[in-house]
Amino acid sequence: MSDPKEAAKRLVGFAAVDRYVEDGMCVGLGTGTTACWAIKRTGERVARGEKLVAIVTSAATEKLCGDFGVPVVPFMSRDIDVAIDGADEVAPDWALTKGGGGALFREKAIAIAANRFIVIVDDSKVVDQLGRFPTPVEVVPFTLSWVQRRIPAQFPTAKATERVRDGQPYRTDNGNAILDCAFGLIPDPRTLSAALMAIHGVL
Ligand code: 5RP
Repeated sequence: MSDPKEAAKRLVGFAAVDRYVEDGMCVGLGTGTTACWAIKRTGERVARGEKLVAIVTSAATEKLCGDFGVPVVPFMSRDIDVAIDGADEVAPDWALTKGGGGALFREKAIAIAANRFIVIVDDSKVVDQLGRFPTPVEVVPFTLSWVQRRIPAQFPTAKATERVRDGQPYRTDNGNAILDCAFGLIPDPRTLSAALMAIHGVL
């Protein structure tokens, strides 16, 4: 593989499945270009006869599971032995930015329900402090203008930009909007997360 970044994604995606997934397990499978490699590897293991099933974090991942031959079961129909997912940034205390691919709500549901959560990233995602990557915030569309005003009202230097794809407002698998929020460096991600979650309309 000529692209070193893609090679790193493949390496971590394959390694996570090889190291943490055992025959008979239910695996939470993440969303994105890194998680894609873990999905592919899971498919290879299924093709070899292992009894693996997946719980998926997005419609895109469900489609990839179909392509790679990984059986999908509904959320909470099985205990999730291990969840494997990418991230947009990882801080030294394991605080994560997620949602670059828009699947943050389901990704978090599966991560917190799983017995074990494995994050797979190439080294470009490892940072001293979160904040270089804009923080994705999922918002119920009815409240979008409200939330878009509240964020800079509470964080005066912040800029909350509605995500647009192909000239249209982006919608998540849950039918919601995303605000990509530039906060600058984030010294205390947990406090920021709690403050955002307290704004009515933020999912
Ligand atoms: C999707 C996510 C992804 O895990 C994150 O965006 C990383 O994606 P990629 O591996 O393509 O860089 O949170 O909502």
